[in-house]
Amino acid sequence: MFSSSGSLARRLRGGIARLRRSLRVQLVSWVVLTLAGAICVNLYLSFRSATAAAQLVADRTLLASARVIAEAVHVDHSGSVEVEIPPAALEMFDTGFGDQVFYRVTTPWGNLLSGYPDLPTPLVALKGEDLTFRDHGIRALMLDHPVVGLGGDGTIAVTVGVTHGSQYAIRRQLWLSGFANQLALVLLAGLVTIIGLQRGLSPILRLRDAVRQRGRDRLDPFPTSMVQTELQPLVHALNDHMESVQNQMAAQRRFVANAAHQLRTPLALIATQAAVAAREVDIRQRDEALQALQKSTRQVTRLAGQLLALSRAEPGNLRPRLDNTDLASLTRSVLENIAEEALKRGIDLGFDNGGPVNVTGDATMLGELVVNLVDNALRYTPPGGSVTVAVKSLQNTAILMVEDTGPGIPEGERAQVFERFYRVMGTQTEGSGLGLAIVREVVDSAGGTIELRDGKAGGLLVRVALPLGQ
Ligand SMILES: Nc1ncnc2c1ncn2[C@@H]1O[C@H](COP(=O)(O)OP(=O)(O)O)[C@@H](O)[C@H]1O
Ligand SMILES: [Mg+2]
Repeated sequence: MFSSSGSLARRLRGGIARLRRSLRVQLVSWVVLTLAGAICVNLYLSFRSATAAAQLVADRTLLASARVIAEAVHVDHSGSVEVEIPPAALEMFDTGFGDQVFYRVTTPWGNLLSGYPDLPTPLVALKGEDLTFRDHGIRALMLDHPVVGLGGDGTIAVTVGVTHGSQYAIRRQLWLSGFANQLALVLLAGLVTIIGLQRGLSPILRLRDAVRQRGRDRLDPFPTSMVQTELQPLVHALNDHMESVQNQMAAQRRFVANAAHQLRTPLALIATQAAVAAREVDIRQRDEALQALQKSTRQVTRLAGQLLALSRAEPGNLRPRLDNTDLASLTRSVLENIAEEALKRGIDLGFDNGGPVNVTGDATMLGELVVNLVDNALRYTPPGGSVTVAVKSLQNTAILMVEDTGPGIPEGERAQVFERFYRVMGTQTEGSGLGLAIVREVVDSAGGTIELRDGKAGGLLVRVALPLGQ
């Protein structure tokens, strides 16, 4: 019971959330809201004008009636004032709404000639006024009328009042008919807007269907003409995105092909060396063959390790781990591991340690960065040379410098050596061309910069700057 009502509430909430996200619902709501506002204003304005029109009609009738009554007042030869109310004066209010009519005729001296003595009189002559008489709401009008032969100021006052039945009926009718016309117009406008909206939205729906129907491998651009001008930036952005995905996929394919090619050569060598070792009967020669086999295996292992490092360093492949790493101690431990190798090659490996330098970044990848730079320096420096590594902090950056006394890299190739599988022509030393590509990915993802310069002794100087950590 609870779970079903809970899920109903969830579904309802989900439905409402979807509706609020719907562009169509949003646009229609705005249109409906505007129209509703227009209808309310219209209701008020047409009510006011209907009221005014109905009052005008009522006041005219009251005036006509008062005139007819006033005309009937006369002074006879003996000088006394007389009035006989003509039936027509009252019959003009008989419009089928059961209205009651009241009147009062008074002399200049305030004496009642005819009618209700207590009928209230409007303050201003000839101007209709809403008053209350014996619990009836009435519309009343007063007329001053001159009578020949009368003393005083020569005018009698005629007041006529009538209940509101007919006036309100006229008002209602005027109001309703005006309002009905406007309502019909507004509804028509709403309908046309909704149809227009539907038509306006249809290109988006077509675009959606076109995107849905595409196969995974189809990345050619959508024609921008399929949507309205305002939406074309969206299609442009979609096309740009697909193009970058396409480029990325091409790069991936090239990389996989290169990697397979790079792995195939040493693996074929390993197979040959294994076959030779298996055939060899002389123990010493077999030993030599096995050592060569071990060396090739190490090479393949290193290459596989580099491929792995590269795929890890690629943006988006791993969530970047933001360790706080001391670059100086990291570099020292890399140098300790590699010192024996340097000794074997007869290279003087030096470390200029400027104390702890904290950087934020993935510690493993920062290790790869240092290893690859130092490995290159050792590899390409001939025996008897020297490699100097320095770590220090400068303003807001951590600086790592690796300088060697090798052949250096010609200016024109300094950009290309960072490309995957790129090696300077004529490089004899074994390698895959992946080292500097890894270095650049790591530097990029740590938000740093890298420069290749001429070393003091003619070799290469690599300068890496990374943002300082906390
Ligand atoms: N310290 C250096 N001195 C001279 N040349 C270098 C140095 N480091 C890199 N290079 C050149 O740059 C190329 C690319 O280096 P890298 O990407 O590490 O690949 P690899 O070392 O596997 O060839 C190398 O083949 C080499 O020609
Ligand atoms: Mg290298």
